[in-house]
Amino acid sequence: MDCLKIACNIGLSDTLIRKSFQYPSGNLEKTVFGLDFPNPVGLGAGFDKNASYLNELEALGFGFVEIGTVTPKAQIGNDKPRLFRLAEEKALINRMGFNNDGVDEIKKRLINWNSTKLKNHKGNLIVGGNIGKNKITPNEDAWKDYKICFNQLHEEVDYFVVNVSSPNTPGLRELQEKDALRKIFSELQNDNAGKKNPKPLLLKIAPDLTKEQLDDIVALAIEVNLSGLVATNTTIDRTMLSKNSFALSETFGMGGLSGKPLQQRSTEVVHYLSKQTNGQMPIIASGGIFSGNDAEEKIHAGASLVQVWTGFIYEGPSIVKNICTHLAQNL
Ligand SMILES: Cc1cc2nc3c(=O)[nH]c(=O)nc-3n(C[C@H](O)[C@H](O)[C@H](O)COP(=O)(O)O)c2cc1C
Repeated sequence: MDCLKIACNIGLSDTLIRKSFQYPSGNLEKTVFGLDFPNPVGLGAGFDKNASYLNELEALGFGFVEIGTVTPKAQIGNDKPRLFRLAEEKALINRMGFNNDGVDEIKKRLINWNSTKLKNHKGNLIVGGNIGKNKITPNEDAWKDYKICFNQLHEEVDYFVVNVSSPNTPGLRELQEKDALRKIFSELQNDNAGKKNPKPLLLKIAPDLTKEQLDDIVALAIEVNLSGLVATNTTIDRTMLSKNSFALSETFGMGGLSGKPLQQRSTEVVHYLSKQTNGQMPIIASGGIFSGNDAEEKIHAGASLVQVWTGFIYEGPSIVKNICTHLAQNL
């Protein structure tokens, strides 16, 4: 990414990169929760945690990028190694633990990005802010962390995602329980309503929830007037791996699994959520998207937008253009 940054700073190579990787603007534009997305292919949270590469990711053709997870205070995250490849499975296992520069630093970077974007009249990349809590914050105070990040970034991002589904912050996933979510979202929606430009507010969920838990999420999403759902985060289930990969994954230790092995479960969750909300609540699909076919499957399951992450690692920088080309021909 740092090499790409250097290349994008040189006029001619920047133009070449954009020509090579961007899908021509026009026929894939889409308005979702009131925002105009240049195309429906985004980059999932956790890649550009610190909003350091927005210009470069836009050059690679992404229609939107979800920065973060951002926490109020900077965190170094878990000890390294904390990110592993299961290449045979086209999968990753990570236990990063919300390493990030903290909301104040990230806000400065976003202010800078927004001002240069205005100056240069460059593209219309949508930026989502994925927010979380610090590891040391107890769960009963978690809402305060979400509130800090929400208010600090409100002017600087286009939409928000409340992340309560990472397996790598101890106890975080317990916040997916209805009462805990109600507290967080009533605080955020209250603040949101007081702003000049209220921002769409979404919730990102784990793929490991039961039907009953998903039903609770849907009921709450309607109750607190969410703009949409992001489905799904990484899974703690490894039972779908081959015997060899499972054994290898055991040597890596704890962490969330992403990529191909997550694909089917994540599609099932998208489909279930879409059915339960009568297709009325926008869903951003995340989980095992590598190709145009994979993206099309998620859209048929009920997704309005898709995000890649592990697919970007295995397929490389052409992934957005490939998916967009397929969608333009097949949707
Ligand atoms: C190394 C790594 C770090 C991640 N960090 C975050 C994060 O900070 N916040 C978050 O909401 N999701 C995070 N994710 C989850 C991804 O955004 C995505 O939802 C998940 O990997 C499933 O998509 P995929 O199969 O395309 O990778 C991370 C994933 C990976 C592989």
